[in-house]
Amino acid sequence: MDRDVFVNFDPQDVPSPAFVIDAAAVRRNVALLEQVQRDSGATVLMALKAFAMPALAEQICPPLAGVCASGLWEAQLGRDHFGGQVHTYAPAFRDDEFDQILDLSDHVVFNSFSQWKRLRRRARAAAAARPAERPLRFGMRINPEHSEAEVALYDPCAPYSRLGVTQAAFEADELDGLSGLHFHTLCEQNVDALERTVEAFLQKFGSYLDRMQWLNLGGGHHISRADYDRARLQTLIQRLQSDYGVEVFLEPGEAAIIHCGILVCSVLDVIDNGIPIAILDTSATAHMPDVLEMPYRPDVWNTAAPGVLSHTYRLGGLTCLAGDVIGDYSFEQPLQPGQRLVFDDMAHYTIVKTTMFNGVRHPALVIYDSDNGQSQLVRRFDYHDFLRRHA
Ligand SMILES: Cc1ncc(COP(=O)(O)O)c(C=O)c1O
Repeated sequence: MDRDVFVNFDPQDVPSPAFVIDAAAVRRNVALLEQVQRDSGATVLMALKAFAMPALAEQICPPLAGVCASGLWEAQLGRDHFGGQVHTYAPAFRDDEFDQILDLSDHVVFNSFSQWKRLRRRARAAAAARPAERPLRFGMRINPEHSEAEVALYDPCAPYSRLGVTQAAFEADELDGLSGLHFHTLCEQNVDALERTVEAFLQKFGSYLDRMQWLNLGGGHHISRADYDRARLQTLIQRLQSDYGVEVFLEPGEAAIIHCGILVCSVLDVIDNGIPIAILDTSATAHMPDVLEMPYRPDVWNTAAPGVLSHTYRLGGLTCLAGDVIGDYSFEQPLQPGQRLVFDDMAHYTIVKTTMFNGVRHPALVIYDSDNGQSQLVRRFDYHDFLRRHA
């Protein structure tokens, strides 16, 4: 746990289970992104796919210039609650949603020339109807075929990827009406990975930049991490701006929200099947799916690796999935039913990915503010939320 996050927070003070976000930590991350925006002249958007709580929108936009959306519903959320620009990209747009997406967005980014050719008549008509002060611009996501992501599941440049147009599929004679290019290739990376990607991009697609007004470098930039080289990022952005005359956009998600949230839960039972096992009122698969998908072992407050402290337990969830297990952890004292546990760093790509599998109670949403010790219960979920998904 970072010591300046959740200062004076008591897990007993919130419902169980609950996702709790420290607003002061969000402000600190966003301030670092804003500094990049100010110093480099790039426009920084927050990726709603990583975190989408309107209750914190005012701490995010402004200072940031707006949001990037993965489709209609995120675009609507961005327009209604976050303010600023809305840039929408999806691997494909549905016919019946496209006009609304055009209406809500400032940039619409296509994933293929076939989608562009099929939808461009409607796109151009919407752009022509826009007032000059709110232009609607279009771009193409390209695939520089340069892999930097360490995990294949998160690598948009893996062989046979469906994300972005490769050099071989690029239709240079269909660029009329497109004013920008977009790539997203990184995942939790520093600027060296971006530099290498930019080189690969320039080699394959640099010759088209004189016909473009803007370049979007996607997300995956771990800008708020202590070792991220923000000065080098600024140099890179300014080189792109001056050498190619393009506006530069960044759309980080995780960097805005990393180390800002926790998942508070309770021990319901302790059993033994060769090892002590604690059953919690939460679930890996329903409430922290990346633990199983990525997979990774989240930190739990006041614990150590198995065997280090006197009492080791396997922590398991409440669903029927046999593999609904978070991991093995050791504790100073034996676990008791009713005791609160805290999973660390459970905000980005967590709240947005939950399910109500098995009808497990969905964690409440709470905002805490380390700067003043105040907390706000944003939402509790009940049976009717579960019912509404099915009836
Ligand atoms: C197109 C696009 N933009 C931005 C992001 C945000 O990435 P991150 O949260 O890793 O910064 C993603 C993440 O998958 C993405 O697919």
